[in-house]
Amino acid sequence: MSDQAQELRRLREKLSNALYSHSNRQPFKNKLSISFAGGKGGTGKTALSVNIAISFARKGIKTVLLDADVGLANANIILGVKPKKNWADFLYNKASFEDILYFYDNDLILIPGASGISDAANLPSYKQEELFLSLDTLESHTDVLIIDVGAGIQENIINFSIASNNIVVVTNPDPTALTDAYSFIKVISNKLYNHKVYLLINMARTFEEVKRIYELFVPMVKSRLNVDLEILGSISYSEEMVLSVKQSKPLVINYPRSEASRQIEIITTKLLGNLYRQNQVLNAKQEGYVKKANSTKTYVTDDARSVDAGNKDSFVSRFCKFFGLKK
Ligand SMILES: Nc1ncnc2c1ncn2[C@@H]1O[C@H](COP(=O)(O)OP(=O)(O)OP(=O)(O)O)[C@@H](O)[C@H]1O
Ligand SMILES: [Mg+2]
Repeated sequence: MSDQAQELRRLREKLSNALYSHSNRQPFKNKLSISFAGGKGGTGKTALSVNIAISFARKGIKTVLLDADVGLANANIILGVKPKKNWADFLYNKASFEDILYFYDNDLILIPGASGISDAANLPSYKQEELFLSLDTLESHTDVLIIDVGAGIQENIINFSIASNNIVVVTNPDPTALTDAYSFIKVISNKLYNHKVYLLINMARTFEEVKRIYELFVPMVKSRLNVDLEILGSISYSEEMVLSVKQSKPLVINYPRSEASRQIEIITTKLLGNLYRQNQVLNAKQEGYVKKANSTKTYVTDDARSVDAGNKDSFVSRFCKFFGLKK
């Protein structure tokens, strides 16, 4: 690259960072959005966001799941699908935005994570902004945006976390995870404006562990960081979850009657209740959702999905079904 081109690129990035880093840019700002985040790696952010996204979709709620992990994206693996493109292809390899939408189900779109970028530090703010702007084009056809955020506290990770108006901090009961959750909440605490911050305890083994977090950790965050942290609930350590991840089958489909699946259903219902209160648009649809939630839904099988991967017509028909369009 010539010196002049490099200088131009540097200036463009500087300008864009100045414009966007403090803007707390939020796609879906008129709808509902939830980020699953938290400083520590491996707490279950992806496993829970995928299963909660499926639970939303099963209630007939049009859901977009953005795998925002940079470098180590894996929501597609937990979902058990093999999308051909991801959002790095859109930002860097001339793929269209439509190309990176993976229609998992009539009510769930996955936007696969960026496996082509080595780490979050290599994603300039103006590129992140480009992605947010494109997400906005889905807003009027969709109900909920779920963002599965990677581990860490780098600027881009924080930007993805606060891009939603509901931030779910996923932690384990271990002291190391709680320390990282605390640091994460501290970093976001001075960037919050219209956000609601929840704590979700994953892989809990005993009631005592959860109780200690309720009694000690939450009051400490509230008093020291002045963040109105609300407990969303807890999910037990689950062998069925471990197996489901290994088998690339979402827990709520693989083991719908397991304790963890039931807890995920409770969390989804609780989130929905809170989201309804936040957004009048959903209120109008609530009755319909409840009806749908009580009816059984048929899911596309893995075989159907792999056949579908190379089938253009099928993509179009899924596109139309998701957006309620006639072919
Ligand atoms: N409730 C649970 N019980 C047992 N194991 C779990 C549970 N939730 C998640 N796991 C396991 O934890 C591992 C890490 O989960 P996951 O990839 O969702 O974490 P993550 O927070 O997204 O990690 P990263 O920060 O790297 O993105 C998975 O192998 C999964 O099987
Ligand atoms: Mg993850």
